[in-house]
Amino acid sequence: MRLRSRHLVAIASLEPDEVELILDTAESFAEVGTREIKKVPTLRGKTVVNFFVEPSTRTRSSFELAEKRLSADAVNFSANSSSFVKGETLLDTARNLEAMVPDFIVIRHSEAGAPHFLARHSSCSIINAGDGAHEHPTQALLDAFTIRRRRPLRGLRVTIVGDILHSRVARSNILLLSKMGAQVTVCGPPSLMPPRIEALGCSATHDVDRSIEGADVVMALRLQLERMTRGYLPSLREYAKLYGLDSRRMQRAAPDAIVMHPGPMNRGVEITGDVADGERSVILEQVTNGVAVRMAVLYLLAGEVEREAAA
Ligand code: NCD
Repeated sequence: MRLRSRHLVAIASLEPDEVELILDTAESFAEVGTREIKKVPTLRGKTVVNFFVEPSTRTRSSFELAEKRLSADAVNFSANSSSFVKGETLLDTARNLEAMVPDFIVIRHSEAGAPHFLARHSSCSIINAGDGAHEHPTQALLDAFTIRRRRPLRGLRVTIVGDILHSRVARSNILLLSKMGAQVTVCGPPSLMPPRIEALGCSATHDVDRSIEGADVVMALRLQLERMTRGYLPSLREYAKLYGLDSRRMQRAAPDAIVMHPGPMNRGVEITGDVADGERSVILEQVTNGVAVRMAVLYLLAGEVEREAAA
């Protein structure tokens, strides 16, 4: 069993067996993270460029840690230091990155489609670390990994609450979880719900209490205030009251339901502190698992490149 592409740009292009392969492989890398010496020589001599053209702390450090634990050499290009602000086009930047002959480019970009564009113009492996409001495949994979460690995905009831409109995490999760046989419901205010979202394989509602009823997994999403160009919401206080995840609402979920959040959280807005820190919360497990899942992705894609070169 192997991946079918040397790039990971979208969950939409993965088959269920590829998702399973990544999650199974991540199990063995999770073990590396529990050792005293958390390093394996798997990607020794490989070069990774972390190309982040949008602020990110957690995803970037998670990738960096994954690369270090696999013994790869990594360099970081971030929005501030990149020549983007000086007017260079994405194609020129891609050519310049390519000229450094990396094996991987991990890209985060504010424009949806930027990783696809790079994949068409580079000979190395491209990993999407979040493109605009489109996809964030490694986040969905680490979420699925975190859920799957507790219970099987098939038949699971997952509710995603919040700013669905601007959320690449929601999109990737809907695609991945529905592919793996879970039932996904998304919930948010009408202004933050994209039209025809059901086409991705979920059901949609504005009734938060109903959406949480009997759910096995409740995922809160951050209000992406930086992407809100007009008045989507009357006030954060009203949003918190109508859609925020609090302990009263969580009582409607299944008795053993878990609570997730991709971070960073607006405490007191989309989630209350007691739910975020409560015993059902797996929010910090998501962060830990992110490293193992990204190690698995890098490892499997490296194998794909080697196979292509040998062919
Ligand atoms: C998410 C993102 O950037 O899409 N965060 C993350 O990857 N850690 C979600 C968010 O920004 O709200």
